[in-house]
Amino acid sequence: MPSRRPHTPKPVPSPAAPLRQTTAGSPPIGKPWHIVLRSPKHTHRLGRCLGTLLQGGEVLALFGELGAGKTSLVKGIADGLLAEPTDVSSPTFTLIHEYRGRLPLVHSDLYRLTAAQLKDTGLNDYLDGHTVTAIEWADRWGDGLPSDRLDVHLSHRPPAARRAILTARGPAARRLLDALRSRLSANRPTRAAQQTRVQLNRPRRASH
Ligand SMILES: Nc1ncnc2c1ncn2[C@@H]1O[C@H](COP(=O)(O)OP(=O)(O)OP(=O)(O)O)[C@@H](O)[C@H]1O
Ligand SMILES: [Mg+2]
Repeated sequence: MPSRRPHTPKPVPSPAAPLRQTTAGSPPIGKPWHIVLRSPKHTHRLGRCLGTLLQGGEVLALFGELGAGKTSLVKGIADGLLAEPTDVSSPTFTLIHEYRGRLPLVHSDLYRLTAAQLKDTGLNDYLDGHTVTAIEWADRWGDGLPSDRLDVHLSHRPPAARRAILTARGPAARRLLDALRSRLSANRPTRAAQQTRVQLNRPRRASH
């Protein structure tokens, strides 16, 4: 019988490293963007689109409860950067994963870190203006979070979808968010086109 991979649930955060409910740092530039992601495919597509638009040096701070879709989004980002998507798995026991694509991508999950590890994540070494940094549970980094970053808050949206709220904190993040919005809006069918499609799909009445 094939052996099953042991399930390793994330532990409850230790009191030494409490979860922060708020995000530290710079105020948002412009309005946050709200999107509903109806399936894992949509989360992946959002990440992939982000990945294609990255120019290097961006910091993507990912927030949201367990299972909200943070790793799924990073897989899409890796895809958009032409890094092997299979290379990106939830970094459970390793602090930092590096991936080589069109740009270097660093993926980190701060959930399991102890208070001591959180004091010196080593992530600052990657803020070189070229490497893209994606951080799950970014709220745990607290005040150390770079001031120019794109915050992505993911949450469960019953019954089975997800909601994403993207907030630019800094000019580079704003440019990225604007580019993302226009790219995704350009791909979205207009209302008129949707209505036409509905009419085209409607069965014709038999003529007498
Ligand atoms: N838009 C979506 N609608 C429904 N399910 C989704 C959506 N996006 C991702 N999922 C699913 O949610 C599950 C959890 O995703 P993922 O591992 O990316 O979450 P996470 O936020 O990284 O969790 P963790 O906090 O444990 O690291 C996966 O099964 C994934 O396919
Ligand atoms: Mg994850």
